[in-house]
Amino acid sequence: MGFSQGYGPADDAVSKKTLAHAIDIGCTFWDTAVVYGKGHNETLIGEVLRDLNARDKVFVASKCGFDCIGSTPQSGLGTVTNKPAHIAEYIEGSRQRLGFYPDLYYLHRIDPSTPLEESIPALQKLKTDGKVRYIGLSECSAATLRKACAIAHIDALQIEYSPWHTDHEDNGLIDAARELGVTIIAYSPLGKGILSGQYRSPDDFPADDIRRTIPRFQGDNFAKNMRIVDEFGRLAAKKGCTPSQLALAWVAAQGAIPIPGTKTASRLDENFAARNVELSDDELKELRVLIETAKPVGNRYGDVHMAMVGK
Ligand SMILES: NC(=O)c1ccc[n+]([C@@H]2O[C@H](COP(=O)([O-])OP(=O)(O)OC[C@H]3O[C@@H](n4cnc5c(N)ncnc54)[C@H](OP(=O)(O)O)[C@@H]3O)[C@@H](O)[C@H]2O)c1
Repeated sequence: MGFSQGYGPADDAVSKKTLAHAIDIGCTFWDTAVVYGKGHNETLIGEVLRDLNARDKVFVASKCGFDCIGSTPQSGLGTVTNKPAHIAEYIEGSRQRLGFYPDLYYLHRIDPSTPLEESIPALQKLKTDGKVRYIGLSECSAATLRKACAIAHIDALQIEYSPWHTDHEDNGLIDAARELGVTIIAYSPLGKGILSGQYRSPDDFPADDIRRTIPRFQGDNFAKNMRIVDEFGRLAAKKGCTPSQLALAWVAAQGAIPIPGTKTASRLDENFAARNVELSDDELKELRVLIETAKPVGNRYGDVHMAMVGK
């Protein structure tokens, strides 16, 4: 996502080098969506994989659900829709930009005005037609996941999940996914970067950075939220890894697949090496105490985006 929107400016030449490096080191589970730069992100990935003749080396997941381009362009991210016609149209746009159908295709957000009885069969049809191998939902409610799974098996659930955001452990969503055999993909596993320790003030974000609009990163909230960041730094130093690696190792230890984002090859190396960080039961207990006592203050999205999650 950061290559195309959200986290300040990006340079396509640098992004392409980072993606090529990801292939070199075997970091080949990639996540994109049509809405990331309104097609820019899928096009970027498609160009890299075509130039390097590497499509077969990478598992690519993409998402639809924002009517951000195509026959009904809207301003901003566009409104959320899960209409069968949208799903059928947007998968073809993804194929055009990527140069192939993605391996996994998610509904990025749930549109409550389209019954699941319509949207889930439309998503499942992409699988039975042989276009995609897996289907998923992103940021739905536990009730939606259960109902969707009764219509067709949902392979993957993408949720915000990190030591800094554990709400889905309490609202039944993670329990439902485990019970239903749905793989959990954890986005923003570094808490949108905060757990890395590199941001010490809201002014550290670039001018047009989306985090400047997120309550959790504003004013007094930001200052209060530094507590977990500082403690993470201390525990990481004790463990002999970086704070980002500690966060990623914790997410993996919960049985979820973390998908951190970075624009640079050096941070990619750092994050990918987190696979080698193993946490003992005592370390996991210590981290759990910290997580429970240093819950974040402030919403994880601004009002407009907050209203779109958990449907
Ligand atoms: N389903 C959804 O609704 C949804 C929502 C958000 C994201 N996602 C997906 O999840 C992916 C990851 O989300 P995210 O980007 O928010 O994840 P994240 O990894 O929690 O945060 C990324 C931020 O952390 C920084 N960072 C990464 N590694 C670092 C390190 N080792 N040291 C210091 N800073 C580091 C990055 O800066 P640099 O780039 O400067 O390194 C970037 O600003 C996205 O790319 C997107 O594909 C999905």
